[in-house]
Amino acid sequence: MIDFRKEVANCISKVVPSLGKEEIENLVEIPPNYDMGDYAFPCFRLAKEFKKAPNLIAEELAEKIDGGVYFNEIKNVGPYINFFVNTEKLVETVLNSVMEEKEKFGSTNIGKGRKVLVEFSSPNIAKPFHIGHIRSTVIGNSLYKIFRFQGFDSVALNHLGDYGTQFGMLIAAYKKWGDREVIEEDPINELLKLYVRFNKEAEKDESLREEARYWFKELEDGNNQEALELWQWMRDISLKEFNIVYDMLNIKFDSYAGESFYSDKMPKVIEEMEEKGMLKESRGAMIVDLEEYNMPPALITKSDGSTLYTTRDIAAAFYRKEHYDFYKNIYVVASEQNLHFKQWIKVVELMGYDWAKDCIHVPFGMVSLEEGKLSTREGKVVFLEDVLNKAVESTLAIIEERNPDLENKEEVAKQVGIGAVVFQELFNNRIKDYVFSWDRTLSFEGETGPYVQYTHARANSLLDKGEFSLANKVDYSLLIAEEEINIIRLLYQFPEIVIDAMEKLEPSFITRHITEIAKAFNKFYNSCPILTVEKELKNARLMLVFATKTVIRTGLDLLGIEAPNRM
Ligand code: ARG
Repeated sequence: MIDFRKEVANCISKVVPSLGKEEIENLVEIPPNYDMGDYAFPCFRLAKEFKKAPNLIAEELAEKIDGGVYFNEIKNVGPYINFFVNTEKLVETVLNSVMEEKEKFGSTNIGKGRKVLVEFSSPNIAKPFHIGHIRSTVIGNSLYKIFRFQGFDSVALNHLGDYGTQFGMLIAAYKKWGDREVIEEDPINELLKLYVRFNKEAEKDESLREEARYWFKELEDGNNQEALELWQWMRDISLKEFNIVYDMLNIKFDSYAGESFYSDKMPKVIEEMEEKGMLKESRGAMIVDLEEYNMPPALITKSDGSTLYTTRDIAAAFYRKEHYDFYKNIYVVASEQNLHFKQWIKVVELMGYDWAKDCIHVPFGMVSLEEGKLSTREGKVVFLEDVLNKAVESTLAIIEERNPDLENKEEVAKQVGIGAVVFQELFNNRIKDYVFSWDRTLSFEGETGPYVQYTHARANSLLDKGEFSLANKVDYSLLIAEEEINIIRLLYQFPEIVIDAMEKLEPSFITRHITEIAKAFNKFYNSCPILTVEKELKNARLMLVFATKTVIRTGLDLLGIEAPNRM
């Protein structure tokens, strides 16, 4: 595509040779609305060199600049030189690019030969995969896809919480009150019940905690067959349930190496810290003092010698560096764990590894229920699987009402219902806290997934009805209506938005942008007839419809949302 920003820089550098093109490009701004032009160059910086007021400089330069084929008009507004893009060129470059690149439009190869690990979802075994985990799952999956789209070799990791003291509790609880058959009927719910009961009873009877610690230690030492078997069994039945959700969301992981995988990789790391003189004893535990960095100490081993969450994360990072030689190692984990990530990444840095800077925590805000904070311990949870099922059911009901003859109703209801949940997760800045609400999730009005999906389906049916073919000859000069140009502008920005989303690790940029495209498209649809106009114009408009459909589809795909052709 034509890079108009570069062309602005070319124009300016001809009249101000003292500025480098790159420097100019960085100075170029986008005016707040199109009446003021597509690009603006502020002249404040030139005042010294020209010994004149910026307004005068802008006025003089605007007159001197020749916009060539790329710009229709160049004029100053106060101290700015404003550039108006030649819209015919814009239309041509956008539509030609989408036509050539199709679903690859917006992708690049900037990541070629580099590996980006995206760790996400990472639920805890034997605990519900609740609505609090959906954010990590959905944001992570989208980032994974965005990196891949930019040519990175991206790897999806699920750091399952399959280790830790809670397994001590579960084993102890199972041995007291568990019934294998009952648990296998409904694993997560039953294991959760055991966990909740154990915590309740332990409040009255302290010795239960001791028992839990014992079982966890046995597990960690790895010699107790019974403990190992129970752990493996709980892991298997839990993962089976998690996979139901991943299948619904169409998510695949390249690795499920969870916390347990790293248990035999810890001693080496602890030894190294020891050798480097980083470990201090504190009430029987081993710590790395981080006071200098204004953080509480990182706990490396406990008084009974068993290791901790932090230690496993450090061991995992070393393993990943060695095994994958990552370019970036990304962790999509709730902001509640900010300190944890700061601490262990600092420890790796203090061990002398500069790749510590490539370990990136991508935090996101908390989810609460309308009735309060989620708490596994108290059994206050909303199961993700239920949310998705409920969304699918409601969607099916809407389809039955509005479009009962639709083919593949069930399949479409799945794509739209699940898409609605994912879309609303990815609509806001990830760092924002939010309250989960059934009503909002299942609303199909306004800025929602179903609205964008519906726009895509509408475009698709126009292409069918108009017997659109990519081989059609298109006269781009016919697309001049404001509604048409508005879509084109948004399509033109799409590649930049995707790069921005990748750099800021913020899928919501894409969600917002395709919503804007859908809105612009529906305005166009409502005010410009498409199938009933004469052939030349019809072909040009259909090409615009094709481009819109293609970009919306790509955008949805990058979010992990499907785009049914009919709905
Ligand atoms: N299992 C943890 C939880 O559910 C999240 C794991 C995050 N990843 C990590 N490498 N620590 O809270």
